[in-house]
Amino acid sequence: MLEKKHLAKTFTLEIIYHVGEYENSIHFIFDHASKTCAIIDPAWEIDLFINRIIDKGYKLSDIWLTHWHTDHTNSVDRLVDKTGAKITAGIHEIPYLQIEHEVQTVNDNDTIYLGETPAKVINTPGHSAGGVCYLLDGHLIAGDTLFVYGAGHCLLPGANVLDMYYSMQKLKQIDDVTILHCGHDYGIKIATTMGEQKRGNAWLVIETQQDFIKFINGMNQGSIAYPTSALNLKEIKAML
Ligand SMILES: [Fe+2]
Repeated sequence: MLEKKHLAKTFTLEIIYHVGEYENSIHFIFDHASKTCAIIDPAWEIDLFINRIIDKGYKLSDIWLTHWHTDHTNSVDRLVDKTGAKITAGIHEIPYLQIEHEVQTVNDNDTIYLGETPAKVINTPGHSAGGVCYLLDGHLIAGDTLFVYGAGHCLLPGANVLDMYYSMQKLKQIDDVTILHCGHDYGIKIATTMGEQKRGNAWLVIETQQDFIKFINGMNQGSIAYPTSALNLKEIKAML
């Protein structure tokens, strides 16, 4: 199983890639001071996650969700049953979440804490109605809002192409050096920064609402191929 580790000032971010049927990327934040862990979008596995946390001498205190899709949430209830971890999700995602336990809601610009590690919540609707990204020191955990040179579809309940366009405009404000972490490894590589994506990810490169809608509709209709590598604006315009 492919893994990665990033050491930051107050936390360590670990990622396990290609987990389960839809090959999800599972993100673990380990707060050094409190020895607590947050898992983002736990799905498919249970004991693998719990043992990983216990083996490091940490306790799973939090589950942060980016969105409701079951390939990101199908371990949540069972993990809470075993550990009592607190669940956090975007306020507008609540009507769609298929989870039995109580969920604490967050909204745009909220800052939540795992021990001494802050994470800023960015509402990024589009792929779902109440999807959020979590911005930590130098790292953006984006769920399916953004992939390497791609992005999540707008096809399931709660999705909206125009919302997705506005979410992309918000994500363009994030520092170029920020490392992007996606919910799936669908691109030509795993490691990327927001700067690199702003230069080559079609969802971020497209400037106007009109072109964005044409691009998404074209993909849904099969006239535009889903990109997996960098495109510039000229190349994208030629596809529309
Ligand atoms: Fe999704």
